[in-house]
Amino acid sequence: MANPPLLEVRGLCAGYGDSQVLWDVSLAVPQGGLVAIVGANGAGKSTLLKTLSGLLRPMAGEIVFDGRSIAGMPPQQIVAAGLSHVPEGRGLFSRMTVLENLQLGAYPAQVRARMNESLQRIFELFPRLAERREQRAGLLSGGEQQMLAIGRAVMACPKLLILDEPSMGLAPRIVDEVFRFVQTLHASGVTLVLVEQNIQSALRLSDHAYVLKTGRVVMQGGGAELLADAEIRKAYIGSLG
Ligand SMILES: Nc1ncnc2c1ncn2[C@@H]1O[C@H](COP(=O)(O)OP(=O)(O)O)[C@@H](O)[C@H]1O
Ligand SMILES: [Mg+2]
Repeated sequence: MANPPLLEVRGLCAGYGDSQVLWDVSLAVPQGGLVAIVGANGAGKSTLLKTLSGLLRPMAGEIVFDGRSIAGMPPQQIVAAGLSHVPEGRGLFSRMTVLENLQLGAYPAQVRARMNESLQRIFELFPRLAERREQRAGLLSGGEQQMLAIGRAVMACPKLLILDEPSMGLAPRIVDEVFRFVQTLHASGVTLVLVEQNIQSALRLSDHAYVLKTGRVVMQGGGAELLADAEIRKAYIGSLG
C-alpha cells in the first residue's frame, strides 16, 4: 500500500468573517512531492495557504498533516509540527541582515539547536545568500529577497514548505532563477506546495496540480497533463501567460 500523504485536506471551507472564500476544497500532498495550486488572481490561493498554516480558522473541513489534525491550531504550533509558510510579499525584516533574518527562522525550540547546521545547508544550497550574509535584507534584489524568505522558512526544518507566489513582481529572468531555486530545494528532499499565478512554470515543475477557481478545485491532474490540456490552456494560460 502507498504511504499516507504528508498533507491531506478534506472538504475545507474558509473565509473572512461572513464572507466565505473556499468551498469544499480537498487535496493531498504526497511525501516528497511538489504540488502546484494554480488559479487566477482572487481564486482563493492565499486564503487556502493561510488556512493551512493556521492564520485563518477553517469554517469546516479537515486538515491532516503528518498524521495529526491541525485544523484550528495556532500558527506557531503548526510551524513546530513541521509546516512552514512563505507568505505573499515575503515578510522580511528589511533593516536586519540576511544572517539575522535566517536566524529568526529557526525559532521552534526543537530546531534552534540545529541552527548552525541549517545555516550551513542553506548557504551550500544557495551560495548567493552566503555571499550577502552581512547585507541588509532591504538592499537585496527582488529575486534575492525571495530566496531569503524561502531560506528563512527552511531554517525551521519543515517537512512541508508552502510557497505563496514566489515569482510575484519579479522580472522573467529572475523568475526562472527563483523556480530553479525551488527545484533545487525540492531535489534536496523538501516536500513543497507551490502556489502560482504563473501557471505554465508552476505546472512544468510540479508532479501534481490543482486548479482553483472562485474558491473551488475545478480540475486536478499531473502537471504535464494539465499543461497539455486544451481547456486549461484556453481558460488560463492564454490569458495569464
Ligand atoms: N483579509 C481579507 N478580508 C476579506 N476578504 C479577503 C481578504 N483577503 C482576501 N480576501 C478575498 O478573498 C478572495 C480570495 O483572495 P485570495 O485568497 O487572496 O486570492 P488569490 O491568492 O488566489 O489571489 C478575494 O475575493 C479577496 O478579495
Ligand atoms: Mg494570493
